[in-house]
Parts: sequence; C-alpha cells; structure tokens
Amino acid sequence: EKIVLAYSGGLDTSIIIAWLKENYDCEVIAVCCDTGQKEDFDAIEKKAYATGADKAYILNIQEEFITDFVYPTLKADAIYENDYLLGTSMARPLQAKKIVEIAEQEGAFIIAHGCTGKGNDQVRFESTIHALNPAIKIIAPWRIWDLKSREECIDYAKAHNIPIAQTVEKIYSRDENIWHISHEGGNLENPWNEHKPDIHVLSKTPEDAPDEPTYVEISFEQGVPVAINDEEMGPVELLIALNKLGSENGIGTIDIIENRLVGMKSRGVYETPGGTILFAAHKDLEKLILDRDTLQYRNIVSQKFAQLVYDGLWFTPLREAISAFVDETQKQVTGKVKMKLYKGTAWPVASQSPYSLYNEEFATFSEDEVYDQSDAEGFINLFSLPLKIRAIQKQNLEGI
Ligand code: ARG
Ligand code: SIN
Repeated sequence: EKIVLAYSGGLDTSIIIAWLKENYDCEVIAVCCDTGQKEDFDAIEKKAYATGADKAYILNIQEEFITDFVYPTLKADAIYENDYLLGTSMARPLQAKKIVEIAEQEGAFIIAHGCTGKGNDQVRFESTIHALNPAIKIIAPWRIWDLKSREECIDYAKAHNIPIAQTVEKIYSRDENIWHISHEGGNLENPWNEHKPDIHVLSKTPEDAPDEPTYVEISFEQGVPVAINDEEMGPVELLIALNKLGSENGIGTIDIIENRLVGMKSRGVYETPGGTILFAAHKDLEKLILDRDTLQYRNIVSQKFAQLVYDGLWFTPLREAISAFVDETQKQVTGKVKMKLYKGTAWPVASQSPYSLYNEEFATFSEDEVYDQSDAEGFINLFSLPLKIRAIQKQNLEGI
C-alpha cells in the first residue's frame, strides 16, 4: 500500500512518516510544496529520506499559487472578516490538488496530512481531496494517535531514532508562503498579551520603518498587477518586489481574533507586506472604473468569496460562478495607481485609467454639456416623492 504524505519537513510530518510505517505497513511518498516559504528544499528532500520516506517530491508551485489562487482572490477583493488576506486559506486547495495529482500518478489511494483536528486546514485539505478524487481515503494522524504535545512528539522521534533538528524551542505555529506568514499559539493565546515585536519574520515594525515615505506605481491589466514603476514583471518577481517594499515600510501586519470554520475563535498575527499594498491599490483603481451598482454588488460577492476560500470551498460551483462574475467586472480594470508607503500604511494617492468613468469636466461645478442643473429639480421631486407622500399622510392622520 502506498500513502502520499503532505510533507513540510517540520517535526510533525517527520514523525508522521515513522508513525505511518509503524501502523500501516506501507510505502510513504512525501510531497513537499514550495509555495514560497523560506526553506532549504534540498535539505527537506534529504530529510524526508533520512526520516524513512520511500520517495520524496519537491514541487515549486509559487507561480501557479499566485496566478490561479491569489489573483482570483485579489480580483474579488476578498478579505475574511474585514482583515485577513487569506494567505494560508488560498494555498491549501492548490497544495491538496498537487498531492492528489501525485497520488494518481503513483497509483496511491491514501493521503495523509499533519493538520490538527482543531483547525481549518484539515477541512481545506480534505474538502479539496474529496472534490478532486472521491476514491482517495484520508489519514489524519493528529486525530488518531495519542501524542498530545510537541514534547511527546520529540519523545516519539527519539524513541524511533528519527533525526530531528532540535534547535531553539518553537514558540508559534507558523505557516509561510510567498503571500504571507501566519503566527498562532504561544503567548498569543491570551488575547490580553500584546504581540511582541520579535514575532516579525517578514517585515519591519512601523516604528522601525523609515521616516521618509516611499512611492511606488503599480499597473494593472484586467484586475491583475503587471508592472511596478512601469517595469513589467512576472507574478513571482512582482510579488517579491512588493514584499520588499512593504516589509521595509512596516506594511501589512495584522493582529486579529478570527472565527474558525470549526467553531472556535482563534488569535493570530499575519504579515502580508506586498499583498496589503496590492489589495489597497486594486481597490483604489476599481473606484475610478466601476459604476456604483457594480461596485456595491461586488462588495456583497467579495464577502461570500472570502468565506468560501476560508472554508476550503475553492473547487465548488459557487466559487467558480462568482469568479466568472468577478472576471466580467475586471475587464476594464486596467490602469495605474500610485501608492505612498509610510510607517505601516499603504495609501493610494493617485490613479489613472483609460477606462476611467471619472470625468473632470462632469465633476466640476462650472457649465458642461452632459449635466444640466435644471434637470436636478425634477429628479429630486420624484426621488423624494415617497417621503412627501408619507409626510402628507402623517399630517392627515394627525388632523392638521
Ligand atoms: N488561521 C489561519 C487560517 O485559517 C492560518 C492557519 C495557519 N495554519 C497553520 N498550519 N499554522 O487560514
Ligand atoms: C492546524 O490546526 O492544523 C493549524 C491551524 C488551522 O488549521 O486553523
């Protein structure tokens, strides 16, 4: 029997290799997705074999992650609970998809993962697997074994001669990719503890950012960023460049309480330096281009889109249908936004587009061709007619 394991190279998934072999009499195929986390992937591959894997794959999925998951979410302006830019949520369906592909290629019918039984990630992985290949069975060791803590995992590793890098004690549960890093657990579990500045991995704190603002121009084509300061770039290069600018200026750190899909509230700190700039710029450009009704309707849809992504429902008819609507709205979202980056804030300060509906001539208070001020009187009379009727009725009832 072959089991494909979603492998990160960390402590949990390392002992999962040994635990699977001990309990299932199987071959373990470890699959590690390079989603842009800063790791030594050659070392991870070696480690997989050293800890007992029969085969290991390292898959670079950074570009696909950005173009097929981040950009559709950006185009939809989807933000979970008004704050969270969905960095982990967007990555899970792609990682799961890749693992399903390897399973199919290897003729394996079991996938194992290292998500805990209390989080969102298990739902995202497993929903995706079920959606893409209903024949695949899932093993989630954290929901089965009786290892209850990091210490017990370390003891298990020692007892089974699993070489683990026992470096400094791991404080936070982290998840990193090219879009963001999340921090949960540790002293964050008490919501009255302010997060410590040294939690930062990707970006400076606003206090440490320069006292002078940095300006950057971002060009979009049909809702997708294509250039920085007029220099065209591929998706990976562009995001790396914006991450650098964002991190230097202390942009994109949030500290929130969020509602997990599985029912409990959790506390997390997220760093999304480049992504925060992109979301602000994209939204600003839309204001120039989209009409009021489309913009308002899109806002309703954004919220639903965010929830679908958070809940692991990427490969669903509703997510696809909303994306089709969003793509229609983005056909003219082409243009440029100038951003001012300063001590933790990404301000859109100027914008332009060939499709702008904003017209200086119409907006001005002086004479123009399309707007006749005398039209306003009739418009207001009909617009406010229900209010007038109600007032008349009230007077009649009160017998004035
Ligand atoms: N709470 C965030 C989310 O649900 C981040 C989860 C981070 N995952 C992790 N395995 N550390 O998307
Ligand atoms: C986990 O529990 O595996 C990480 C946190 C989450 O999935 O929400």
